[in-house]
Amino acid sequence: MENKKFYITTPIYYPSDKLHIGHTYCTVATDAMARYKRLTGCDVLFLTGTDEHGQKIEDKAKEAGVTPKEFVDRIVEGPRGVKDLWKLMNISNDRFIRTTDGYHVSAIQKIFKKMYEKGDIYKGRYVGKYCKPCESFWTESQLVDGKCPDCGREVQNAEEEAYFFRLSKYADKIQHLLEDTDFLEPRSRVNEMVNNFIKPGLEDLCVSRTSFTWGVPVDFDPGHVVYVWVDALFNYTTALGFLNDQYDDYDKYWPADVHFVGKEIVRFHSIIWPAMLMSMDMPLPKKVFGHGWLLLDGGKMSKSKGNVVDPYILAEKFGVDALRFFLLRTFPFGSDGNFSNESLINTINVDLANDLGNLLSRTVSMVGKYFGGTLPEARQADALDEELISLASGLRGRYEEQMEHYAFQNALAEVFKVIGRANKYIDENAPWVLAKDMEANGTRLATVMYNLLEVLRISAVLLTPFMPGSAKEILRQIGACEACSTWESAAQYGSLRGDVTVVRGDNLFPRVDAAKALEELDKAAEEAKKAALPDLEVEPQLTEQVDFNTFCKSDFRAVKVKDCQPVKKSNKLLRFTLDDGTGTDRQILSGIAMYYKPEELVGKTLVAIVNLPPRKMMGLESNGMLISAVHTEKGEERLNLLMIDDKIPAGAKMC
Ligand code: ME8
Ligand code: MG
Repeated sequence: MENKKFYITTPIYYPSDKLHIGHTYCTVATDAMARYKRLTGCDVLFLTGTDEHGQKIEDKAKEAGVTPKEFVDRIVEGPRGVKDLWKLMNISNDRFIRTTDGYHVSAIQKIFKKMYEKGDIYKGRYVGKYCKPCESFWTESQLVDGKCPDCGREVQNAEEEAYFFRLSKYADKIQHLLEDTDFLEPRSRVNEMVNNFIKPGLEDLCVSRTSFTWGVPVDFDPGHVVYVWVDALFNYTTALGFLNDQYDDYDKYWPADVHFVGKEIVRFHSIIWPAMLMSMDMPLPKKVFGHGWLLLDGGKMSKSKGNVVDPYILAEKFGVDALRFFLLRTFPFGSDGNFSNESLINTINVDLANDLGNLLSRTVSMVGKYFGGTLPEARQADALDEELISLASGLRGRYEEQMEHYAFQNALAEVFKVIGRANKYIDENAPWVLAKDMEANGTRLATVMYNLLEVLRISAVLLTPFMPGSAKEILRQIGACEACSTWESAAQYGSLRGDVTVVRGDNLFPRVDAAKALEELDKAAEEAKKAALPDLEVEPQLTEQVDFNTFCKSDFRAVKVKDCQPVKKSNKLLRFTLDDGTGTDRQILSGIAMYYKPEELVGKTLVAIVNLPPRKMMGLESNGMLISAVHTEKGEERLNLLMIDDKIPAGAKMC
């Protein structure tokens, strides 16, 4: 029998900036789903990739002084780029599409032409609003307070000759698809789409641009590039080989079983995408699942707001599996969730260190201590076993039910209910008491140990999609063979061999010292923020002019430092006694104590403006001002006194 196919996708990411934990969330969820389906025996194709065209990328590349292709290459393929991140996060995608790949570009040209020849794409004039960061066109009525309804930023007027897609023609069909089928989930998103977009009237969609060039050229009308969303959405089919020779999997895998997408792009996936597929006479994906956002301080993470969380830092600190687990254990997939380092650490300590980690290390070490690592085969059941065995036996069924509904959080909750029950079972059976009389209780003790190992085994199999590395290590430590690490075996209590041998290993989930970790994370965040600041910044030059005569009224002189002292009770001021060439000492106070030690300035030749009116500071008179150069380095202000050649005599005039 051929295995059931399962085709699942993530959105393809804009390589306009480094990816953050929000992007990681969606990809980890998709990966868990793909691994789960593989575990159950499906023939899975898991696609991810990057969406590399559009004005935003063209602009960013220009800013960086490189070509758009060079710019995206660096972010996609470069160190700590998109591909690196997915490798680090142990993402098991079968394919990675870049929309700049040649096979995709030429397929998009064919697709565009097909819809044009069918009459679903026509030429007109576009008048409306454009949100550059979102690459989205909006009509006046869709704006919220005159701003982009997605990101809240300013939109620009846009008017140009453009091609349009007859979205309006498909309005009824789309409404039916959304309301009368389970195409779009969760259900709450259906109301959002129908009320906000379909009921007010679907307008035709502008699908080409002439104001920039970084896109797929419309081959029958030079100067036009294909709207980036048309280019992007069809990636799900070109990556299978649709209208290209790169791959040959379209017939096998299309339609997709599910597209996972963030809630702000549900509109594109549940309205525009099915309409274009209808136009192309292609089957529709079976489901679009719109997941929630990870929020930080109540708002969406975004690079432009500067409130992003770096998955590299977290994965390096806590381990990839702990991070993956946390993301899917903590937040219900369909809703928004608040990210915090505290909740990450808490999840690690409670679920992983306390519950799972302890169960594993206690069980393995007890089997070692009481039985030399290998259980005897004889068993002695007890009423205490029944609840645990029944819970563990039915776990796969309950887990599967949740996984089939993309309810990762609930699926994990089921697993941890059983793990919690097993920890309680240890206390109920008090193995350390049984061990006091091995002759009388040895068989019972072996039975208790076996039941604990079985719970660990079944849990580990079911945790595999979430924590592939750790689950494998658990199975190794409890001595599970290949045949008792399968999906089938997870529904067969008692699969582990009776005389199993355990292997002691490292503590998989060490407890995190929360206070220390939080402090280190704050420091790392601070450093990352600093690293992102420009190396060097100088104040912009003044544009307002000063007339020559006014300038000449300022009297700049060389002065020599005879003495320099800190000013009492001030941590800013230094008091200079200066030789200004007049024969009378001049006193100047200067707020530079944080930049210089007074003694290192004695004997230096500086520049002062000497005809300023006297000023009192901390009760002392200052006659003039020392000139210094100021700039900013990595966000920190730097100051350097202007020091000139010591050959220049005191009193020499600067002009
Ligand atoms: O939208 N929480 O790309 P993208 C959860 N190129 N998900 C988040 C998130 C957060 N804080 N921040 C971003 C695009 N995401 C298009 C897709 S598909 C044909 C084209 C999710 O890089 C976001 O919701 O802006 C989206 O699903 C995905 O990351 C990619 O976002
Ligand atoms: Mg986005």
